[in-house]
Amino acid sequence: MTDRLAGRVCFVTGASSGIGRAIARRFASEGARVILADTVSDPLEGGPTTDSLITDAGGTCLSIPTDVSSWSAIDAAITQTIATFGRLDVMVNNAAVSDGYRLLDTTEESWDRVMSINLKGVYFGCKRAIQQMVKQDPLDGDEARGRIVNISSQHGMVCAPSDFSYGVSKAGVVYMTRQIAVDYAKDGIICNAVAPGKILTGRADGMVGLDYSQSRTPMDRLGRPEDVASAAVYLASAEASYITGHNLLMDGGWMAF
Ligand SMILES: NC(=O)c1ccc[n+]([C@@H]2O[C@H](COP(=O)([O-])OP(=O)(O)OC[C@H]3O[C@@H](n4cnc5c(N)ncnc54)[C@H](O)[C@@H]3O)[C@@H](O)[C@H]2O)c1
Repeated sequence: MTDRLAGRVCFVTGASSGIGRAIARRFASEGARVILADTVSDPLEGGPTTDSLITDAGGTCLSIPTDVSSWSAIDAAITQTIATFGRLDVMVNNAAVSDGYRLLDTTEESWDRVMSINLKGVYFGCKRAIQQMVKQDPLDGDEARGRIVNISSQHGMVCAPSDFSYGVSKAGVVYMTRQIAVDYAKDGIICNAVAPGKILTGRADGMVGLDYSQSRTPMDRLGRPEDVASAAVYLASAEASYITGHNLLMDGGWMAF
């Protein structure tokens, strides 16, 4: 690894498991100081915590228990981040849940839960991050004051079978990314998304629909969390200098098929 994120302070939601965990680990290995924001610390897939993996590898991280659906929790976590590290360079809005229901089975309670984490949580994360970013100077050698990386999905652009509220929430994340990119471009904010295809995360016995996902994926394997982390490093770094409002597919060709 290189030092593509050296000196940067990067906040990653849902950092305990899966894609968020891979992003946090990769960011730390690229020299970032990483804030791990999640409701739990144990990874869904098992194994050591993200915090211990980063620390054991010589990286720098700070765990802050955070529920992204709560403004007061996000506000407090980013306030603590700034108090600890002095600035916030990168906000990765990754935490999300799904309920697996079609429209007629979707209760108001379930819809509200998915939207409060997947959509309102991203709105809160973007808003609190940009409140800080517009006040700080760019780091040396950079033109941007801060970067947002939202984790969307190919779902929301194509149907998420039997996952109504999830698909709607992800379509909203793609739109939110464009709107923020346009509204804050002149303030030095770069805002992009990564749209994963099927990435192997979670407990091995909890993986369903893999045959369907492989049938939709031209490449001969499904995705790894590290595939998404590679895209996130680019969008978080100074190399992402003239790209904003983009939704970068990381899907083995799913959306080209
Ligand atoms: N895995 C895939 O195939 C896939 C495909 C497309 C998009 N995505 C997106 O990638 C992101 C990560 O997916 P994943 O598969 O790694 O998920 P995951 O379920 O493995 O991990 C999600 C993490 O988010 C945390 N989380 C849940 N609710 C939270 C809350 N309210 N506040 C803070 N943290 C919370 C969980 O504790 C968990 O650690 C999500 O946005 C998901 O929609 C995943």
